[in-house]
Amino acid sequence: MPNPKLLVAGELNVDLILNKIQAFPQMGKEMIAEEMEICLGSSSAIMAANSAALGVDTTFCGVIGEDYFGEFILRELEKKAVSCQHITRLAGRKTGCTLVMSYDQDRANVTYPGTMDALTIRDIPIESPTVYQHLHVSSLFLQKGIHRDIAQIFMHAKAAGMTTSLDMQWDPTEQWAFDYAACLPYVDVFMPNEAELLALTKAGSLAAAMEKVRPYLNTLALKMGKNGSMGICGGQELTVPAFEVPHFVDAIGAGDSFNAGFIQKYMSGAPLEECLRAGNLMGAISTTGAGGTGAFADRQKISETIKDFWGIELSLT
Ligand SMILES: Nc1ncnc2c1ncn2[C@@H]1O[C@H](COP(=O)(O)OP(=O)(O)OP(=O)(O)O)[C@@H](O)[C@H]1O
Ligand SMILES: [Mg+2]
Repeated sequence: MPNPKLLVAGELNVDLILNKIQAFPQMGKEMIAEEMEICLGSSSAIMAANSAALGVDTTFCGVIGEDYFGEFILRELEKKAVSCQHITRLAGRKTGCTLVMSYDQDRANVTYPGTMDALTIRDIPIESPTVYQHLHVSSLFLQKGIHRDIAQIFMHAKAAGMTTSLDMQWDPTEQWAFDYAACLPYVDVFMPNEAELLALTKAGSLAAAMEKVRPYLNTLALKMGKNGSMGICGGQELTVPAFEVPHFVDAIGAGDSFNAGFIQKYMSGAPLEECLRAGNLMGAISTTGAGGTGAFADRQKISETIKDFWGIELSLT
């Protein structure tokens, strides 16, 4: 059987990370940062890059500007063996960038969204019969060009025979304009974290939030940071604890790495518990390296990390 293909439709941007900054920025003054990293940013791109690192045949659909940051993103995705044939370059537009000012455990971010709003339903290659087995969409609220059509996008994907997943991520406007009752029936795996699910449903507790979405759900994969993850599917409901992390570096991209691990297993037809466990493992691995992709150089490196830290022999082929 050919390697199943994953299509990730989403936003693309660059992270410019300033570390070891002398003090907080002040108007009219200049601060020195002792370290700087420029790396692939955006939830969707991190999910795609880490899926490819796990050996999943991954294609990205998104929009960049005709500029240096756009070039950089293409190079980084290609290095990770993500297929970029559905990435469009828009003349006269700038690729987005997040300036991350990092202070110990916390970060102050400023984002210029650039072309994040430019992807539309027409750009997403959903045709019937589909060449892709699964569609993953992330960062719904940052992508104004697909926000309005999100239910239709998933409906088309289902009609074309694909399985689907959504990680809506945080809504910076905090309006949470997402008609989950209309959309979730076409989403096979809904992948929020606890804060996002509470904010979306405006519920007073996690239990109440889950009751609100339950009638529309296929599978829920709820991310709970250090507490691992929880899954709901049909009558089944289970919590899988997180892996203990011996050398924590940062939590950037843990959620996107969870998505990569979960969806790889989901695409292979694995049961819910195995998907959650793989998600937790990839989330934990992500926290052992810098940024969202630092711990995911390639399959060899991922296998070594898993064996060294948790004594697990994992075949990723
Ligand atoms: N400190 C940690 N120790 C162990 N595992 C962790 C830790 N943080 C995250 N994980 C694992 O990664 C998964 C996803 O992380 P998290 O719950 O932070 O997602 P998220 O809030 O969506 O993250 P993101 O900010 O990347 O979108 C968790 O379910 C857990 O399994
Ligand atoms: Mg997240």
